[in-house]
Amino acid sequence: MSEPIVVQAQDPERERLEHEGWVAIARSFGAQLDADRVDRARLGALTIRDDVSIRALGPDDVPAVIELDRRTIADYPGSVATQHHPLSREAAAPSSVRRAFGAIDASGELIAMTFVDFDGSHVETDFTVVDPGWRGRGIATAVKAASVIALVDDGAERFRTGGSEENVGILRANAALGYVRDEEWVTLTHP
Ligand SMILES: CC(C)(COP(=O)(O)OP(=O)(O)OC[C@H]1O[C@@H](n2cnc3c(N)ncnc32)[C@H](O)[C@@H]1OP(=O)(O)O)[C@@H](O)C(=O)NCCC(=O)NCCS
Repeated sequence: MSEPIVVQAQDPERERLEHEGWVAIARSFGAQLDADRVDRARLGALTIRDDVSIRALGPDDVPAVIELDRRTIADYPGSVATQHHPLSREAAAPSSVRRAFGAIDASGELIAMTFVDFDGSHVETDFTVVDPGWRGRGIATAVKAASVIALVDDGAERFRTGGSEENVGILRANAALGYVRDEEWVTLTHP
């Protein structure tokens, strides 16, 4: 089996590869949210909860970030295009260019987090994850909403995100925040 190749769904290269016998094994998407389209009131309402508190993460949270990453590492669907690698200590450390937001439960445990890279105007989502016991309760949507509001306040103009086409939870969370899908990718492999 050859190394998988990731191409845009509309790329003519895809047709050529498929003629040569390459087959699609996964689909993924890219989506964008422009700051001037952010509905602050609606997103703000998504972050107000009585079961968890949503806040920016900092250096003191690194051990909890690594622990949550460790127990969810096998949960990311898709193929090479949407792979999530275990966080190193450096990648788990929030900073001015690597911003992170999390949800903390009543016992003080970190149960969800979203990490983005931020260059002062553009935001690229790295990953979002929720503890399995807390999924399906709007928590991914809440931490992503908190991150969008805070980063707009800090000058963000454009947010990008992406993921596996089969990941309905993240697709719907992105749609709830106003992300518009503008890229489709296929991962091809040659059996
Ligand atoms: C994807 C993930 C982050 C979603 O977290 P979550 O807290 O369950 O998401 P939310 O509760 O905010 O749900 C958002 C929407 O998706 C829906 N949803 C969530 N999980 C779903 C599922 N497995 N199947 C179908 N719909 C789902 C919710 O009903 C909600 O829909 P709505 O806005 O129409 O009400 C979580 O499943 C997870 O951690 N998965 C593993 C890591 C991962 O894949 N991360 C994303 C790629 S970086």
